[in-house]
Amino acid sequence: MDLHKPGTIRVTCAPGLVDYLRREVEDLGYRVNSSQLTSLEMTGTTRDAMRLNLFLRTGFNVLHLVAKFRCASPDELYKRTNALPWDEMISPDEYLSVVSSVNTPTINNWRFASLKVKDAIVDRVASAVGRRPDSGSKRENFVVHLYWKGDRCELFVNTTGRKLADRNYRKIPHKAPMQETLAAAVILATGYDGAWPLVNPMCGSGTLAIEAALIATGRPPGLLRSNFGFMHHKAFDADGWKTMRIEAKKIRRKARIARIIATDIDPTAVEAATQNAETAGVRHLIDFAVCDFADTPLPSEAGIVVINPEYGERLGEVSELERTYERMGDFFKRRCSGWTGYVFTGNLSLAKKVHLRASRRIEFQNAKIDCRLLKYDLYSGTRRTPP
Ligand SMILES: C[S@@+](CC[C@H](N)C(=O)[O-])C[C@H]1O[C@@H](n2cnc3c(N)ncnc32)[C@H](O)[C@@H]1O
Repeated sequence: MDLHKPGTIRVTCAPGLVDYLRREVEDLGYRVNSSQLTSLEMTGTTRDAMRLNLFLRTGFNVLHLVAKFRCASPDELYKRTNALPWDEMISPDEYLSVVSSVNTPTINNWRFASLKVKDAIVDRVASAVGRRPDSGSKRENFVVHLYWKGDRCELFVNTTGRKLADRNYRKIPHKAPMQETLAAAVILATGYDGAWPLVNPMCGSGTLAIEAALIATGRPPGLLRSNFGFMHHKAFDADGWKTMRIEAKKIRRKARIARIIATDIDPTAVEAATQNAETAGVRHLIDFAVCDFADTPLPSEAGIVVINPEYGERLGEVSELERTYERMGDFFKRRCSGWTGYVFTGNLSLAKKVHLRASRRIEFQNAKIDCRLLKYDLYSGTRRTPP
């Protein structure tokens, strides 16, 4: 099994992000063969998989196809999987985990399918080299994905391991943090590239500001991680990876990066965000402050303001938040003339309380909640919607 030869690569993502992912993959010079709600497919080698892992901001996992076959029973799954040359891919000293997505009348238990695949792989390695790899649920090392739909099975090696959303900089999450891949997509949706100021009141753990800084510098997020699934494959090209990282570190935005300002009313949030920015290596690009969002200092040069307020789960919370959303509208209207405002929220009735006309409503999903990124063009005559 030679994954250095071009084969099928499937890149997965969260619902709603596939268009951003497609753009990123195409910007890296690849052709997308097909896309679905939460994944796209392209043709590539192990080297391409490493590159995708290093550069992608909005993807979850980069999966490399090992085999696809028809399968009518768990025993057949074992036999077909065991016939594949896993001993060429995984060393007996490695740790294996199997993740399954199963939608077939044949079985109703994905755990059983995972167990069959795991047994087939470790038995294959044991019969070839006399020892079997350890296995379990930790997705840190050699990870295999099974998709079993109807009578069709696909087996992939996961070259990512833990999701790419886990960038490794958010050591302190604070409350209701946005997933890093979603934050990156939100920033990409605004068209931000670092040329103009970006202000992020209600910054929480700082994810939006940090992703913005990474985008502005052109710094590949994969540089922040030291572990990927592909490092646990027998054919891992350690020298190729080292060279790729050295080249990626040289990427520097030539033009000046305008200031990024992030504030929150909660001092522990600002402390967490500052630490996280330090870990991400972008602390020098972000000015942090503790204040009510409406007192956020704005640079004289106009730019974009992105706010991710709480959306409230309980009734009391929602009625308290109504006032906050109204105040956000006032803040936009009074202080942000000439700027472009964005509000990311999962509560569309609360969004109405901003009382400004949104010029765009960009759809997203956050933890299964339908969300919108609402864009407000804030010129001095910005119209209020009736309260
Ligand atoms: C949904 S969280 C933001 C999460 C953030 N996007 C992240 O990724 O971590 C909302 C934040 O708004 C802050 N907040 C609530 N009311 C505020 C106010 N009046 N002024 C400033 N910040 C406020 C909270 O402390 C909280 O950190």
